[in-house]
Amino acid sequence: MMDQSVLPSRSQQLCKEIVGQSPAICQLRDTIARVASKNVSVLLVGESGTGKELAARSIHRLSPRGEGPFVPINCGAIPSELLESELFGHEKGAFTGAISSRKGRFELAQGGTLFLDEIGDMPLAMQVKLLRVLQERCIERVGGMHSVRIDVRIIAATHCDLEQAVSEGRFREDLYYRLNVFPIPLPPLRERPGDIPLLLTEIAQRFGQLHHCKLYFTPEVYTELSEYRWPGNVRELANLVERLMVICGDEIVDVDKLPAKYRVSDNKGLELPSHDSMDLNEILLSTEVALIKRALHESDGVVAQAARKLNIQRTTLVEKMRKYGLGKKSESVVEYQV
Ligand SMILES: Nc1ncnc2c1ncn2[C@@H]1O[C@H](COP(=O)(O)OP(=O)(O)OP(=O)(O)O)[C@@H](O)[C@H]1O
Ligand SMILES: [Mg+2]
Repeated sequence: MMDQSVLPSRSQQLCKEIVGQSPAICQLRDTIARVASKNVSVLLVGESGTGKELAARSIHRLSPRGEGPFVPINCGAIPSELLESELFGHEKGAFTGAISSRKGRFELAQGGTLFLDEIGDMPLAMQVKLLRVLQERCIERVGGMHSVRIDVRIIAATHCDLEQAVSEGRFREDLYYRLNVFPIPLPPLRERPGDIPLLLTEIAQRFGQLHHCKLYFTPEVYTELSEYRWPGNVRELANLVERLMVICGDEIVDVDKLPAKYRVSDNKGLELPSHDSMDLNEILLSTEVALIKRALHESDGVVAQAARKLNIQRTTLVEKMRKYGLGKKSESVVEYQV
């Protein structure tokens, strides 16, 4: 019988690289610690930047194969005609350009873990071959005559809904069930805004060592960023921290230092107006003004960039800003750069 009182806190200690105190992240660390020791296939499912690769590396590190290789391959990024030789390797002369024989990622991952990233983007023809390998635990190099036994743990990851891909015929059902032995969902950042302060601090510390500077945030920054929707999740947050490090150096970061799209409370004033009347001219005018304000805001006041967003000439935009009195500093927190 597993000791429930000991396991959770120990698992929390074991996966310290996964930052966050939200229930979803505590549960994630717990799940990773439990599944790591079992030699089962794991499927990590989550939006871009939620930490799928980080989780895969943690599972590998905590597994009995932790000292072995961790070999990632992005199944969506490699052209389909190259994917087979990337995965299974090839023999000399197997195809034009195969001037010497080469191991594939399966062989490179012997005794360790193969991380099949973006598995949902794998072409159907490759899915058949992968399924056969997972069933038989043997590979054959392209152009090879004999099969090689493989001892590899599979961790797959996807940002897309594989069940839907199966129902649409884009993903093989049999492969889906083979990979989905142990699914682990990665929670999006917007569902755990309470983790943002801790993530900001930890990531600032991480980059601080790299760039030799320190970054501190005011509590208002935490509040502001907690309202943002974070489509790029933790990766986007990490990019923001690095950007702030370049802009702010050793300063304390307040809300006015955040790029426009992260100043959520400002943006609330930029919603398109709702209309009670049916006066077409009045509606068109207020909509035009609101769109121009929004484009300027999202472009940090850079007029040329705002004009591109609006798909109009820069000179036309300058003219309109003059007409609507939008060039003054009071209209926005930033001065527009013409
Ligand atoms: N919970 C977390 N704690 C600390 N860092 C995190 C966390 N989640 C993600 N990160 C960091 O965010 C970045 C993106 O993570 P990762 O590459 O694992 O995401 P992903 O889901 O694989 O993204 P993509 O789908 O874009 O490939 C990395 O720098 C990673 O270290
Ligand atoms: Mg990834």
